[in-house]
Amino acid sequence: MDRTNGASLKIRASHISKVFSNGKGSVEAIRDFSLEVKEGEFLCIVGPSGCGKSSFLRILAGLMTPSSGKLEIQPGEDTSKPLTSMVFQEYAVFPWKTVLENVGFGLRMRGIHKAERHAIAQSWIERVGLTKFIHAYPHQLSGGMKQRVGIARALANDPEILLMDEPLGALDAQTRMVLQEEILRIWEERRKTVVYVTHSIEEAVLLGDRVVLMTAHPGTKKAEFPILLPRPRDLKVTATPEFGELTYTIWEALRGEVLSAMESTGAGSSKGVG
Ligand SMILES: Nc1ncnc2c1ncn2[C@@H]1O[C@H](COP(=O)(O)OP(=O)(O)OP(=O)(O)O)[C@@H](O)[C@H]1O
Ligand SMILES: [Mg+2]
Repeated sequence: MDRTNGASLKIRASHISKVFSNGKGSVEAIRDFSLEVKEGEFLCIVGPSGCGKSSFLRILAGLMTPSSGKLEIQPGEDTSKPLTSMVFQEYAVFPWKTVLENVGFGLRMRGIHKAERHAIAQSWIERVGLTKFIHAYPHQLSGGMKQRVGIARALANDPEILLMDEPLGALDAQTRMVLQEEILRIWEERRKTVVYVTHSIEEAVLLGDRVVLMTAHPGTKKAEFPILLPRPRDLKVTATPEFGELTYTIWEALRGEVLSAMESTGAGSSKGVG
């Protein structure tokens, strides 16, 4: 693929649409959504519930085909690496495997020997704070802990592109902050291409190089915001006026979409109050 501003493009999604059909009719989840992501960019997607964020990540992961549009993903030079790894919004862990086996699963599929596999898995388990639970099974873990297993597994896979769907959504506020800082550190070390979906505007501004805002259902691109806060970043940046201004600007753009998403599902209404 071509280059933009010196950095090569890793992902180019052009005019992607997705329509789900069943016996009763069809749901248009995504409409004419285009997105380019540069190599090494941390791209965050924010949008109201049901606007098609998870569907779009599944399309990027190759788990689902778009109804129309074109998707190009630039493979890396090292073809032994997986192209994408996904952290799913709903905890996707194997219930019959321990934490260690879950995290090492992708490595095992790639034929990496046990000793090396366990060493890699162990180091990621440590980074997400689950060392004490390394031999535990998912039913012995809380929701947030299972989500951390999913994060460790995706990172252990060392993919070309990391796709993360609300990876911290199930965590309590404090663990979430610790892991946000960990994600920033890991990204500084590896500069991987990341597409990160979150409901939290603050999280998107803290982590991302750019925030793409989607409209309410059917989802398409509403606006995008470059995040020029200096790197390396940590949570201290959230105390700056620039951070506050950016999050508020994005919220102003998102607010209408959230209200229209709520109205279309009948949840709450901005009309008829007072
Ligand atoms: N497999 C499916 N079959 C039919 N409809 C689906 C399917 N998956 C998603 N949808 C519909 O597509 C739309 C987008 O869903 P999606 O899960 O992509 O939204 P989302 O932006 O990730 O929402 P949330 O923020 O709540 O996770 C919704 O209307 C949903 O009901
Ligand atoms: Mg979703």
